[in-house]
Amino acid sequence: MKNIVILISGGGSNMAAIVKTAQQEQWERAYGVRIAAVVSNKADAKGLVFAREHGIATAVLDHKTFESREAFDAALAQAIDQYQPALVVLAGFMRILTPGFVEHYAGRLINIHPSLLPAFTGLHTHQRAIDAGCKFAGVTVHQVTAELDVGPILDQAVVPVLPDDTAQTLAARVLTQEHIIYPRAVRNLVRAL
Ligand code: GAR
Repeated sequence: MKNIVILISGGGSNMAAIVKTAQQEQWERAYGVRIAAVVSNKADAKGLVFAREHGIATAVLDHKTFESREAFDAALAQAIDQYQPALVVLAGFMRILTPGFVEHYAGRLINIHPSLLPAFTGLHTHQRAIDAGCKFAGVTVHQVTAELDVGPILDQAVVPVLPDDTAQTLAARVLTQEHIIYPRAVRNLVRAL
């Protein structure tokens, strides 16, 4: 059995979409992979409740209790490596990762970013797309490399930006697409494991 570990910081709706798809499509039986654990840097991340209710192991490492980014990432890697994951999935994990961490998981670390990369790396992607007058926005799943939001693109989806959109309404439209493409991208990867 090959393991997937998912990292979250908040609501965990992308993680939930992947877990639900894995259950519906019986990934354990079909591909020999399972979602082994969900790890959060926030104890109150709502997604942890969903994970526990679905029988998935959870762990919390509060980044504020570590004296450096390197120390946090080392502890995070230790928590993840208990599961010897074939794939590590960042799903709304709002921490910048050190080059050493990224290198450790090279080729098996993916992220979802709420913009059409390479446009709008970083934060506040929806407001920036509106401010720039974009007619389309979207979401990207990509391999993680040392540089933030820049790794090879695995999948994308596009949505229109409507004239009366706010960052919130655009984010909601993008999120529905995230829930389609992230499970799809993970499925494509686990098929090849
Ligand atoms: C998602 O929109 C995801 O694309 C974004 O955070 C949200 C998490 O939602 N990720 C980033 O901004 C990464 N830089 P979720 O916790 O409900 O999956």
